[in-house]
Amino acid sequence: MGRVALVTGGTRGIGAAICKALKDAGYTVAANFAGNEEAAAKFTEETGISTYKWNVGSYEESQAGIAKIEEELGPIDVVVANAGITRDAPFHKMTPEQWHQVIDTNLTGVFNTVHPVWPGMRERKFGRIVVISSINGQKGQFAQVNYAATKAGDLGIVKSLAQEGARANITANAICPGYIATEMVMAVPEKVRDSIVAQIPTGRLGEPEEIARCVVFLAADDAQFVNGSTISANGGQFFV
Ligand code: CAA
Repeated sequence: MGRVALVTGGTRGIGAAICKALKDAGYTVAANFAGNEEAAAKFTEETGISTYKWNVGSYEESQAGIAKIEEELGPIDVVVANAGITRDAPFHKMTPEQWHQVIDTNLTGVFNTVHPVWPGMRERKFGRIVVISSINGQKGQFAQVNYAATKAGDLGIVKSLAQEGARANITANAICPGYIATEMVMAVPEKVRDSIVAQIPTGRLGEPEEIARCVVFLAADDAQFVNGSTISANGGQFFV
C-alpha cells in the first residue's frame, strides 16, 4: 500500500502545490483546510484529492480530523504542517488578539497536527514530518513580531523532534520559503512587495512548486539521514 500524507492548509497556495506534488510522487494525500469551502471544492474537483475541514488551532478538532483520515485512508506516514496566517502590524499597533491568532494557528497548530500522529509513527517505525517555516523566522520582519516568532519556533520544534524520532526512523525538517507568489504575499501592499522583490537576487517571487519539490525530497523513504535540518528556498535573499 502507498504511503499516506496529510498536508494542513492544503487547498490553496503552497499547500495545494505540495498536495499535487506528493500525489504525483505516488502518495495518497489528505488536504486539511480551515474555512474556505469554495476553494476546497475547486481543489478537489481539479486534483481528486480529498479535503478535511478543521481548525489546526484546536487540539480536539485536529485529533478528530486525523482519526477520520486514518479511518478512511490508513495510517498517516507523512505530515506537512503548512497551515499559516499573517496578522501583520507594527509592534506598537499589534493587538493581543493578533498575537494569539497567529500563535494559535502557526505554532500551536504544528503541535496539534504532529502530536496525534506521533505515537503511531513511533509504533510503525516510520514517519516524515515537514514543517513549513519562513525566511521571516530566520531573519525577522518589520510588522511580523507574531509571525516571525512562530516561524522561528518551528525551527526549534523540528530540531527537538528530530532527536526524539530518529531511532524510530521518524525525521522532522523545516523548509523556509522566501517570498512566494501566493495570496498571502499578494496581500502585501504593492509598493512594499516591489521593494521586497528588489531584495531577491533571483529577481522574482518564488513559485509554490519550488517549495513542493523540497517537501517531496524530505518525505522520501530514503531521506532518513536528513533530519533536523532547515532548507532555505528564497532565491538567494537570505543566507543563514
Ligand atoms: N522596514 C522599515 N520601515 C517600514 C517597513 C520596513 N519593511 N515597512 C513599512 N515601514 C514603515 C513605513 O515606511 C512607515 O513609516 P512612516 O510612518 O515613517 O511613513 C511605517 O513603517 C508604516 O507605518 P503605518 O502606520 O502606515 O503602518 P500600518 O499600520 O499601515 O501597517 C504594514 C502597514 C502592515 C506594515 C504594511 O506596510 C505591510 O503589510 N507590510 C509588509 C509586511 C511584510 O513584509 N509581511 C510579509 C507578508 S508575506 C509572508 O509573511 C510570507 C512569508 O513567510 C515570506
